[in-house]
Amino acid sequence: MDKDTTRSVEVSRRRFLVTSAAGSALPLAATVVRDAGAQVPSPAAAARTAPQPSLAIVLTVNGTDHRLNIDPRTTLLDALREHIGLVGSKKGCDHGQCGACTVLVNGERVLACLSLAAQAQGAPVTTIEGLARGDELHPMQQAFIDNDAFQCGYCTPGQIVSAIGCVQEGRLSGDDEIREYMSGNLCRCAAYPNIVEAIREAATKMRRSA
Ligand code: FES
Ligand code: FES
Repeated sequence: MDKDTTRSVEVSRRRFLVTSAAGSALPLAATVVRDAGAQVPSPAAAARTAPQPSLAIVLTVNGTDHRLNIDPRTTLLDALREHIGLVGSKKGCDHGQCGACTVLVNGERVLACLSLAAQAQGAPVTTIEGLARGDELHPMQQAFIDNDAFQCGYCTPGQIVSAIGCVQEGRLSGDDEIREYMSGNLCRCAAYPNIVEAIREAATKMRRSA
């Protein structure tokens, strides 16, 4: 084989290797991309197909037992609103900052958006729906109406339940204490002066009848 023939063969071999490598790399790359998309589900898809955990609990709300099968992470607020259908307790911030979700658990004020439903098992839960006796409103509910202590009403269930809890704890003896202990219940309509009047009036009645 002469010199020119040898160079020609080398060039041909090099070109063969280059073109073969390019030709084989592309299908390989396509396979990798295709398989990556097919075999690694997105986090959202994985969450959709993952088996949902379930927990059987009994919640006693306003004197009635409710048997629920829920995700163990369900908050008390979502259990009340979404599973039991008691939508009086409001979801204002869902972060423990507005007080709109306040309910009584064992007679004590609790922010239902920050509590797990499972934690309330075995303890009586009272919501705004459980305060009236038939057609007779709770004194705190009546005082809010009599004193025009709300505008949109969104914060009102939490205000009323929280105020009742405070009175039962022996709080709210004067306006300063009312403002201090009700400071966790925000009113976007700023009905605060009338709320203070309503609570003062109802607290007096509640203490007299206790
Ligand atoms: S909704 Fe619970 S504190 Fe705002
Ligand atoms: S009455 Fe509207 S938020 Fe309080």
